[in-house]
Amino acid sequence: MSDAPKPFPVMVTGGAGYIGSHAVLALLDAGWPVVVVDNLATGFRWSIPDTATFVQGDVADVQLMTEVIREYRIGAILHFAGSLLVQESVDDPLKYYRNNTAASRALIEAAVAGGARHFVFSSTAATYGVPEMVPIPEGAPKAPINPYGRSKLMTEEILDDAARVHPFNYCALRYFNVAGADPQGRSGQSTRGATHLIHIAAEAATGKRAHVNVYGTDYATPDGTGVRDYIHVSDLADAHVHALEHLIGHPGDSLTLNCGYGHGYSVLEVLDTVDRVTNHPIERKLVGRRPGDPDALVADNRAILSTLPWRPRYDDIGQIVTDALSWERTLRERGLSS
Ligand code: UFG
Repeated sequence: MSDAPKPFPVMVTGGAGYIGSHAVLALLDAGWPVVVVDNLATGFRWSIPDTATFVQGDVADVQLMTEVIREYRIGAILHFAGSLLVQESVDDPLKYYRNNTAASRALIEAAVAGGARHFVFSSTAATYGVPEMVPIPEGAPKAPINPYGRSKLMTEEILDDAARVHPFNYCALRYFNVAGADPQGRSGQSTRGATHLIHIAAEAATGKRAHVNVYGTDYATPDGTGVRDYIHVSDLADAHVHALEHLIGHPGDSLTLNCGYGHGYSVLEVLDTVDRVTNHPIERKLVGRRPGDPDALVADNRAILSTLPWRPRYDDIGQIVTDALSWERTLRERGLSS
């Protein structure tokens, strides 16, 4: 990443959350001044470094966001704030259209009003729904199968429309399965009740739960369990910094990029990795499919590799699991574990 003096501070919404906090670290490590905006509904004040400015507030508050953008002369926004549980989005869709779509629309309005020229958006592979082909290229049909995916796709569309007529450009990053924790132990997945496989497996490996359910063994995959493209959260954070620098260097250019490594692991391969890293087998219960899970989700990542100078540093499932486990132990030691 460029060592040049930074032209302006960057606002990070949801900077006290899992992925946002890693982006804050990546920005600070690269020398960017950072203003974190978070309402602390699910994020943690302790996860924000002292070297970042913190504003407690809601991204849906157009007036407040416009004031913050003007006061700190924010030039770019990395927008992570939002809700992210697929099942919850099915049970309470209006929450997702409020916290994701409507709140993002408000933030985009504030960006335009306040003069922030660049916008990096936290999107998701859930915008593709059940893919027709794997690996999935960005041009594949967008057919989300839940309100979570739709709420994010709508935001992509709002950004696209707004960037045509207002002086800003955007990059939507479609995340595949984000996992792991900062290798230096500064942050990690701390959200109570997170249901992601590697988080659940880390809890089982550290004695916090008795076993791991394997949801479905009859998928059209080599071992019958679901295959996912797990990306280390610190690599994902770096992708945001590169996306930001690309937007600054190409003011007329907006883009949408998959974030994944381009290869996947099955549930059983992930659990085998956990066993290998801890040298202790965790108990697996083979249970039925979880509704709405596709067989395989793997990114076609050629676009990000050819557009940004981003190169993964932690494309290693063993490292992802090792870092997730270290963070789980840190949470327990600090009494922060749920
Ligand atoms: N799984 C288990 N047991 C568990 C948890 C998960 O077997 O206890 C399996 C799932 O069935 C799936 C795989 O592990 O095959 C990964 O599941 P996760 O819950 O970790 O992640 P998902 O692929 O369901 O979801 C992720 C993101 C969502 C996003 C979705 C689609 O977490 O935000 O990918 O892109 F919407």
